[in-house]
Amino acid sequence: MFVRRIAVIGTGYVGLTTGACLASLGHDVVCADVDEQKIAKLRRGEVPILEPGLAELVTEGMAAGRLKFVVGARNAIAPQGDSDDPIEVVFLCVPTPMGEGGAADLAAVEAVAHEVRDLLPRGCVVVNKSTVPVGTAARTKQLLGRRDVAVVSNPEFLREGSAVHDFLNPDRIVVGCDQQDAAERVAALYSRLGAPTLLTDAASSEMVKYAANCFLAMKLSYVNAMAELCERLGADVHEVTEGMGYDRRIGQAFLKPGPGWGGSCLPKDTHALMQISEAAGFDFALLTASLETNERQSGRMVDKVRAAVGGSLANKRIGLLGLTFKAGTDDLRDSPALTVAAALRAEGAELSAYDPGCSGEVPGMTDGITVADEVTAIAKDADAIVVLTEWPEFRALDWPALAKVAANRTVVDTRNLLDPDVLRRAGFSWVGVGCR
Ligand code: UGA
Repeated sequence: MFVRRIAVIGTGYVGLTTGACLASLGHDVVCADVDEQKIAKLRRGEVPILEPGLAELVTEGMAAGRLKFVVGARNAIAPQGDSDDPIEVVFLCVPTPMGEGGAADLAAVEAVAHEVRDLLPRGCVVVNKSTVPVGTAARTKQLLGRRDVAVVSNPEFLREGSAVHDFLNPDRIVVGCDQQDAAERVAALYSRLGAPTLLTDAASSEMVKYAANCFLAMKLSYVNAMAELCERLGADVHEVTEGMGYDRRIGQAFLKPGPGWGGSCLPKDTHALMQISEAAGFDFALLTASLETNERQSGRMVDKVRAAVGGSLANKRIGLLGLTFKAGTDDLRDSPALTVAAALRAEGAELSAYDPGCSGEVPGMTDGITVADEVTAIAKDADAIVVLTEWPEFRALDWPALAKVAANRTVVDTRNLLDPDVLRRAGFSWVGVGCR
């Protein structure tokens, strides 16, 4: 394997994982961010996000001299010292948030392109790892205005909470470029991983990311709709999805019903693909239905809680288990738990919450929710306890002890996480999703 000199622009979930993992594969990596405080922390080996294995890789990479952190894209690309060879590959890992009307906001990609275009060494390759609309590689190439610099699309498929594992054990590597040699150079960075590799054109590669995330979103909306139907017909969605999942064309993964799908990726990418479809004059009815099903899902969860506390949420004390968008992360962005919490509050409920990934109140995110640092505080005098995030440790809570402090022994489990028998033995009534 060739060792390459790589710059990674942006040290969020994707950038930091990409930089640390590429360094662990033997490459020389310099990561840049505009946030000076974040870079100062990283230089001290402090990783600002909860991501298993990431801190260890950052420490190892820095100790081996293969991983550096600098402020600003230009400092990553300009020579670091007389002895350093020029950067050969530049990864753009900057945010592409939901902009006006749901379209991806490409301001950060464009700003970096402007900043670095005159600094890029001759013949280097710029790689777009951020999720961007079809045509962005071509647009970036135009913005750079450099005939000698190829722009490659190489979407990331990392899940938060298992990003390092996913990077080092990928199901596939997708690399798209209209210049075959540049695509091959990028694919070669990952050769040690031995993953199936698709070399394609830039537009198809950019589309793969949207196609995959929107398919996953659709799969979850399908399961959530199926759960509702199971409730009406007296079937059990667990049994149904298990039976479906043995079909290898369907698989067992991503079939768990919940309070709706969220996070920083699936909602943003489904809205962006809706925009892309509309702009192309295509009515993507399947996607519209998936989004609508998801919007309904939080309301269904609120209905369950309201029913569990006797028909009105006004002045009811509700203890929430979980706030993050899924277990294993500290990320609250677009969390379905927060959507349900906001709707409960809008009907007059008093909310307290416990989440192992979120230790205090986060302004603008947890407004109106008292965040406790231990679970008894939220169960005390609660009219209902509502499970919103699937943290495994909730299964092992001392439910008989919680039964002693709760005002009303009712649990609404929007993740079907808990063992109903354990709960019932502790004296709780248990309500799940898609089952009786
Ligand atoms: C998602 C994709 O799974 C990754 O492949 C992709 O790389 C990433 O977006 C991205 O675009 O960067 P992530 O946002 O980390 O990853 O979260 P997921 O694990 O996909 O979960 C998304 C939502 O679906 C969460 O709210 C989760 O609780 C929910 N979910 C997931 C369910 O309700 N049921 C399931 O069976 C699985």
